[in-house]
Amino acid sequence: MCGIVAYIGDKPAYPILMKGLQRLEYRGYDSAGIAIMNDKLHLYKKKGKVADLEAFMEGKDYQGNIGIGHTRWATHGEPSDANAHPHFSKTKSLVIIHNGIIENYSALREELKKRGYKFKSETDTEVLIHLIEDIQVKEKVDLFEAVRIALNEVIGAYAIVILSKDNPDQLIAAKKGSPLVIGVGNDEYFLASDASPIVEYTRNVVYLEDGEIAIVSRKEDLKIKTIKNKDKTPYMQELELKLEMLEKGGYDHFMLKEIHEQPRSIRDSMRGRLNAKKGLVTLGGIKDYETKLAKAQRIIIIACGTSWHAGLVGEYLFEEMARVPVEVEYASEFRYRNPVILESDVVIAISQSGETADTLAAMQFAESKGATILAICNVVGSTIPRTSHAGSYTHAGPEIGVASTKSFTAQITILALMALQVAQEKGTLPRSKFQQLLNELESIPEKVETTLKSNDQIKYIAEEYKNATNFLYLGRGYNFPVALEGALKLKEISYIHAEGYPAAEMKHGPIALIDEEMPVVVIATKKGSYEKVVSTIQEVKARKGKVIAIVTKGDKEVKAIADHCIEIPETFEAFAPLVSVIPLQLLSYHIALMRGCNVDQPRNLAKSVTVE
Ligand code: AGP
Repeated sequence: MCGIVAYIGDKPAYPILMKGLQRLEYRGYDSAGIAIMNDKLHLYKKKGKVADLEAFMEGKDYQGNIGIGHTRWATHGEPSDANAHPHFSKTKSLVIIHNGIIENYSALREELKKRGYKFKSETDTEVLIHLIEDIQVKEKVDLFEAVRIALNEVIGAYAIVILSKDNPDQLIAAKKGSPLVIGVGNDEYFLASDASPIVEYTRNVVYLEDGEIAIVSRKEDLKIKTIKNKDKTPYMQELELKLEMLEKGGYDHFMLKEIHEQPRSIRDSMRGRLNAKKGLVTLGGIKDYETKLAKAQRIIIIACGTSWHAGLVGEYLFEEMARVPVEVEYASEFRYRNPVILESDVVIAISQSGETADTLAAMQFAESKGATILAICNVVGSTIPRTSHAGSYTHAGPEIGVASTKSFTAQITILALMALQVAQEKGTLPRSKFQQLLNELESIPEKVETTLKSNDQIKYIAEEYKNATNFLYLGRGYNFPVALEGALKLKEISYIHAEGYPAAEMKHGPIALIDEEMPVVVIATKKGSYEKVVSTIQEVKARKGKVIAIVTKGDKEVKAIADHCIEIPETFEAFAPLVSVIPLQLLSYHIALMRGCNVDQPRNLAKSVTVE
C-alpha cells in the first residue's frame, strides 16, 4: 500500500519523481505529493491521482536535484490534500514519506500533543516526523540518530524516506515490513517501493532489510546501519526487470495486456522446470526441501484473494496427484485462530506481490511453530520469498493491473509442477499417467492462446449483460475455484455484485436468487462432473435465468440449453482452470470498460495490501 520514490544526484529530481509515481500508482491512488529542495524546501500535494498532482504542479517551482514523492492508499484519515504525503515536521525542516502503518501512533500522538505539537493531518506518518524532530532537538543528535531512536519507539511497519532542509546532500531511509529498494547509479541514488522507477537509470540495486537504516549521501558510498546501530555492508544485486515489461505495449490497459500475456507467462513459469521429453519435473528453488515435501503429513496453503483461489486449485492438485492432505487457509483467519501446526507440516505461502501483510504474518506464525515454509511468489526479492525457507518464483513478469490475471495462472502452473514433483518423488502416479500429465501441461500455453481468440464473442456477451446488478458464477471440482475467481474479477473492477459457488450448492440457497434478470456463468467443461453441471444449468433455465457457459470445444448438450457458450480447447480436468479462467477475465474486463470503470485502478483497491 502506498508507493514511495526519492532521488539524490545531479539530475533534475522532478521528472524522475513524477515518472516514478506513475509507475508506482498501482500501489495506491487516492492522493499524491512531492517535496523538492533547491534554496528552499518545497512541498506540493493533492488529493486524487498522480495526473492531478501533475496538473497542479504547473507553474510551480520544482527545480532541484534532491526530492521525495508519494502516492497514497488511505489507512489513517480519508483521502484529502491534508492527509496526502509528504508531511512536514513542526519547524518544516524535515519532510517525510511513509508506506506502512505505525500501530502505536495514537499513544505517541497524545504524548506529542501534551508537549504542544499540533497536527495538520489525521495520519500516523505525521506523528512519526514530529517524534523524529522532537528527539533531534531534545537529544541534540543528527538526523540519522534521531530516526534511529524514534524507530526504536515505534511499533508497526514502515518504509520511510526523510529529507532535511539543513542537509540537502542527504536522504535517510529505513524499512521494516514494507519494501524499499535503493538504486545505485553514478554519483546518484534512487529509492523506491519497487524497482520500477529505478530500472531505466540503473540495474544495480540494494534491497534494504527489515530493521535497517540507509544513509544516502551525495557523492558518497551508501551506508547502512541497523536500528541497533550496527554497521551493515550493502549487498548489491543486478535487476532482471526490463523496461518494456512496465509499459502497456500497445494495449489500452495493463489488465488486457496481462490477460494476453498468459501463454508467455505460463510458458516462462514452466521453463527449465518441466521437461516432458525426459519425463522430468525439477523445481530448483525447492530442491533442498524435496524430501521434506514428499514426507509431509499435511500441506497448509496460505494466501489472500486471487492467490487463495489458486491455492484451492493447488489443494485439488496435491491431493489427487501426490496423495497428501491439504488445507487452504485465508492468511488473515489462520494467523488469529490458534491453528494446530505441526513440525512435520509444510506451509506454502502464495503471493503475487510478496508483500501481503496477512500472508507474511501467517507464514511467520507458522514458522514460529516449527513448520517448513515454502513460497510461491511473482515479485523477485520481495519480503515473502525472502522470509521463507525456500520457494519458486512464478516468472509471470510485472503485474500492474490491480486485478490479478496472469499471476493466477502462473501460480497454478507452479502448484501443478510442485504436485507433480512430489508425485514423482513419492511414486503416487503410474508412470504413463505422469507422462501424460507432463505432455498436457506443456500444451497449455497453446490452448490459452486459442481461448484468447474468443475475445470478440466475449465482448458481444458483455454488451448484453453490462447493466446487470448481480451475477452468479458456478463450477465444480477444479472449476469451483475458477467460479470464485471469475466472481472476484467482476466485482473488483466493474462493481457488480457477484458470487461464486460450487455448482451443486446452488440448490441449497442461491437458487432463490434466480430469475430472468440473473446472469449465471457456468463453467461446464467436459470431464469431471460434467453431467451434474448440465443438470444445474437445467435448473437455472427452468427458473428463466440467463446462462453463459464455458464449454469444451464441440460440446452439444450445453449448447442446446445455454443462452451463450464460449468454447475452450479440451484439456485434463486438473489443468482446466488454466484455460477456463481466461474467458472470465475477459468478460469482467469488457463489462468494466463498458460501464466506464477504471479497469487498472479500481476504486478503493491497491495492488499490494501491506496492512492487516
Ligand atoms: C485480486 O485481483 C486482487 N488484486 C487481490 O485479491 C489479491 O489477489 C490479494 O490481495 C493477494 O495479493 P498477493 O497475491 O499479492 O498476496
